Amino acid sequence: MRNDILTRRKFLEKTSVGLAAVSVASKAGAVPGNPNVLAVKGGTPVRTKDFPTWPQTNELDEANILKSLRNHRWCTFDGEFIPQFEKAWAERLKVGGCVITPCGTHALHTALEILGIGPGDEVLVSPYTYIATLDTIMLCYALPVFVDSDLKTFQLDPDDIEHRITEHTRAILPVHIFGGAAHMDKVLAIAEKHHLPVIEDACQGHMAEWRGKKIGTLGTVGCFSFQETKNLPAGEAGALVSNHEDLIAKALAFRDFGRSPKAGGGYATRGTKYRISDFAAAVLMAQLTRFDPISALREANAAYLREGLKSVPGVALQESYPESGRHNYYCFGLRYDRAQFSGASREQFIKALNAEGIPIGAGYTPLNKEPFIEENLNSRGFRAIYSPERLDKYRKQNHYPRNDELCATSMYLSQQVLIGSKQDVDDVVEGFAKVQKNAAML
Ligand SMILES: Cc1ncc(COP(=O)(O)O)c(C=O)c1O
Repeated sequence: MRNDILTRRKFLEKTSVGLAAVSVASKAGAVPGNPNVLAVKGGTPVRTKDFPTWPQTNELDEANILKSLRNHRWCTFDGEFIPQFEKAWAERLKVGGCVITPCGTHALHTALEILGIGPGDEVLVSPYTYIATLDTIMLCYALPVFVDSDLKTFQLDPDDIEHRITEHTRAILPVHIFGGAAHMDKVLAIAEKHHLPVIEDACQGHMAEWRGKKIGTLGTVGCFSFQETKNLPAGEAGALVSNHEDLIAKALAFRDFGRSPKAGGGYATRGTKYRISDFAAAVLMAQLTRFDPISALREANAAYLREGLKSVPGVALQESYPESGRHNYYCFGLRYDRAQFSGASREQFIKALNAEGIPIGAGYTPLNKEPFIEENLNSRGFRAIYSPERLDKYRKQNHYPRNDELCATSMYLSQQVLIGSKQDVDDVVEGFAKVQKNAAML
């Protein structure tokens, strides 16, 4: 998967291209009506009906937007819905404070800035993530030092963290990937031992839990995304949460050019403009009212899908650590074992399953190998900060074999297959089973 596909509308476009191809194949197919021939080879697809779309709206989203529009209080300072949402989200998470930002990327950037992370610093981070997690670190002229991945859970391997800590390490940044939790007991224990703050990338983890606490609230700060594919969508928006009052105050100042929230405080600190208009918060307040029932449906269908896929050889499901609680299933993660599919490649499998009408995609690519890393390291800014020896050392350690394996084998089903009926889920299982049984045809 290209990393932008997972979270962007392109996934839907890609899927509908796949579905369009299905109808052509089934009409022109050599053996129409034969359910034992793979659709990619001209057989009848398991499914031609669309899965539910996401995001979803109703009259309340419309009414809230109209209300915001008509009250002419559109900006961060006087918007009606922004403070409502910041309060509501903090209450939902049981966390001290929440600061809304234009997106999750900006929440992460704010977190790094308010924790003083900058040139010369190293941040320990998951490599199996969306590009935003890393971009923000490098924007601060800090080095993302990756921690290898845990193949079973797709999270950063908690036992691979500590030996990577150096005198330059300034934070640990676990990503709760697909809505499952990173191993927070181990992350927090290491952080405490080494006096490091923890920035949780909870951009995919709305209301997911670790030992009964909401993820995003266990570390020093947590960052959320409300981009349109997320479980709590608003088009584009994000939030930073924390139990540290001083950090909430710093985040408020940072998003407003460093202006002190106190009257007459002036521009006391470094900052930028990460304020948003009220419309996104108007949508968020509406989406919040439906969050629980949709989440319950998504999670019940995910459990049902897990059961169903147990009978399909060669497909390993993303696991959760026993200590974690709720997995929110932003995405349903799986790993592919080609040996169980007559040697067919993961890409052939994905193509075949898409042709059956099931929207599946490949997981993240190894971000540590993307050209932007070298481009940053070779830039004037990085070369001014880091010695050639330090950059060489960084390059030499930039090998993460388990993450490579995870990237080569992982796949995901988007939440669309989990927010409809049990029949939708049955179709997914049937699609997997059909492709598995007939893999020799690929
Ligand atoms: C793990 C992760 N981190 C950060 C982000 C960035 O969030 P946003 O797209 O709202 O900037 C995303 C968004 O997809 C994400 O999935």
